[in-house]
Amino acid sequence: MTDDTAAAAGADPAAASTTASTTTASIAAYWDAAAAAFDDEPDHGLRADRTRDAWARRLRSWVPYEGADVLDVGCGTGSLSLLLAEAGHRTTGVDLAPRMVEQARAKLAAAGLPGRFLVGDAAAPPTGGERFDVLLSRHLVWTLPDPEEALREWIRRLRPGGRLVLVEGRWREAGQSGAPYVPGAGSLPWDGGIGADALAQAVRPLVADLRVEQLSGDPDLWGGPVNDERYALTAEVPAAAG
Ligand SMILES: C[S@@+](CC[C@H](N)C(=O)[O-])C[C@H]1O[C@@H](n2cnc3c(N)ncnc32)[C@H](O)[C@@H]1O
Repeated sequence: MTDDTAAAAGADPAAASTTASTTTASIAAYWDAAAAAFDDEPDHGLRADRTRDAWARRLRSWVPYEGADVLDVGCGTGSLSLLLAEAGHRTTGVDLAPRMVEQARAKLAAAGLPGRFLVGDAAAPPTGGERFDVLLSRHLVWTLPDPEEALREWIRRLRPGGRLVLVEGRWREAGQSGAPYVPGAGSLPWDGGIGADALAQAVRPLVADLRVEQLSGDPDLWGGPVNDERYALTAEVPAAAG
């Protein structure tokens, strides 16, 4: 978005909504085009045993339940959904990009594991009135037009006592290279990622308990050393009263 279009959108709610839907369409197109090569990154495809095992271990500690219902929003090619299914959880993945969803479906089918994958907006997952034990999101909130509203919606999708698992960070590629990754990306509130303190501040009023685990120091997760901020935030929603 240029300064002029931002000013126009700010003055006219209809223009703001058109701008937001144009940005969402651009984001879907970007990730659709990225889907074929997405798994070439070590932490996306998890092709190396060491990388896959590192994520499987972390997921076991973040989802320490038997047979949980897990909603993986912005699931991409389903690499984490696959690990969750291997661990015996019932996974539903939602992604804006149809080609990402196709790959996720194919990945679980190839492994002979169940998994449900839906094309849709993570901010309003198309799962009706269903409630989940765990909502997982990795590397998504930075590209949402209204991430704080999405967080509130995600909490509503959890059962009492359910758990939010957000794997996030701040990284150069997403915003500090100068060029926006899609037109309008500069107007995304958390463009370039969000630090753990700021995300914790946004989540804390919505939950009963919250922890942050730093992940930058574990090169096995990323396929090599990284020097930007990466972390997992886990939080529980209040259990039902009585
Ligand atoms: C950086 S990738 C992460 C994919 C996956 N979570 C992972 O960690 O491998 C971001 C994903 O979010 C999806 N995405 C972006 N905006 C979305 C939205 N509003 N709703 C659903 N998915 C979205 C993209 O299509 C892409 O698959």
